[in-house]
Amino acid sequence: MYTANLTPGVRVYGESLRTIGGVEYRQWDPFRSKLAALLLRGTSVDIGSNVRSVLYLGGAHGTTVSHVSDALPHAAIFVVEKSPTAFAPLLALSRRRANLLPLLADAQLPERYQADVGRVDFLYQDVAQRTQAAIFAENARACLAPGKVGILMLKVRSVTQQRSTGAIVREARSELTRSGLRVQSETSLAPFSRDHVAFVVES
Ligand SMILES: C[S@@+](CC[C@H](N)C(=O)[O-])C[C@H]1O[C@@H](n2cnc3c(N)ncnc32)[C@H](O)[C@@H]1O
Repeated sequence: MYTANLTPGVRVYGESLRTIGGVEYRQWDPFRSKLAALLLRGTSVDIGSNVRSVLYLGGAHGTTVSHVSDALPHAAIFVVEKSPTAFAPLLALSRRRANLLPLLADAQLPERYQADVGRVDFLYQDVAQRTQAAIFAENARACLAPGKVGILMLKVRSVTQQRSTGAIVREARSELTRSGLRVQSETSLAPFSRDHVAFVVES
């Protein structure tokens, strides 16, 4: 998979570049990006021109978010990252990409950035925390507009080592539905990532 490079000539994580018909594309690696893995697993997610604002939780160094930035050049993409070490490269990336708005913040405290972010059209979460589903539900309540889509990349073993994968996934699904979110699909990301299940939900 490829996305059209918003910053031609610039690589973000060593990905290969390819020019076709005068447009430069960046290869999107499903082993490095769970969103690419989810799309390659065949899950359809509507993140087209109807998406004008995004809240992305767990930006890290910006690998996946750079492709979201390519795909949605006119959107406002708020990127929350709590680690100052990861935030530095994310900030550098955002200086070259005007649609990225980085926030050094804790996704467990959406009340700290809710007023800046407002209501978004698309919510994406990839944070390896024990309470991932609750964090997602809280951010959806605070920042996702009604009838819009979100993706929770659940890292199963970050929840607990004590219960089975099936039980952890069931509990996460219940937490999402209890919060009033409708689960559209639930997809294992194997073979790209063995420990992740992606929930696509609607608010
Ligand atoms: C697996 S990495 C994200 C990878 C990234 N989404 C990508 O595909 O390019 C998880 C990131 O979430 C961040 N993180 C963990 N807990 C967080 C929290 N409570 N709030 C914000 N960021 C958090 C970590 O610092 C780390 O950078």
